[in-house]
Amino acid sequence: MTGGLSAGGVDVELVEADARDLPFGPEACDAAICLCEGAFCLVADDAEPLAHDRAILSSIFGVRRPGGRLMLSGLNAGRLLAAWHRGESTGYLDLLTLTESSVSELPAGGTVELREHDHLPDGLRTLAESVGFEMEAVWAGGALCWRRDAATVDADELLLVASRRWTHRRSADSRS
Ligand SMILES: C[S@@+](CC[C@H](N)C(=O)[O-])C[C@H]1O[C@@H](n2cnc3c(N)ncnc32)[C@H](O)[C@@H]1O
Repeated sequence: MTGGLSAGGVDVELVEADARDLPFGPEACDAAICLCEGAFCLVADDAEPLAHDRAILSSIFGVRRPGGRLMLSGLNAGRLLAAWHRGESTGYLDLLTLTESSVSELPAGGTVELREHDHLPDGLRTLAESVGFEMEAVWAGGALCWRRDAATVDADELLLVASRRWTHRRSADSRS
């Protein structure tokens, strides 16, 4: 799985873990990339959607060094609401939490139940800021077509770019 990266001279260690509780030390990472719903927006059965996604952002925030940047994609609630308005929703939409529940067919057979939590650009920005991130941008796009364009209701996903503020380290230093 790491063959292509190793051939390019990149040293990779794969770690499997719950994104809500990353097993790295504080400030262990220079940057974080979380694309194509790497857990964010994919709500576990019994979780409260906002708390679920906030836990992932908070976990990522904790393992990055001050100044370290985050690039994270999230499902676009604008697109979800536009589809619902046109009567094209494919699952059950909870309008208050912007969460859609649906059943998907698996390629290997059988089905899986999904709970997907979508975000509006302002809500995503506020959520990231609430755990300490400094916002750089919320752009639009989808898998393999990320752009520095403003979000629209047509975009599948939103792309959040943010960084961990240096002020957190400065205030910690000033206490010691
Ligand atoms: C839509 S796939 C995307 C995978 C990857 N980002 C990609 O582009 O190929 C979602 C993945 O997130 C994983 N996942 C779901 N909840 C997770 C969690 N809380 N922590 C870590 N991974 C999770 C699932 O097992 C699945 O492999």
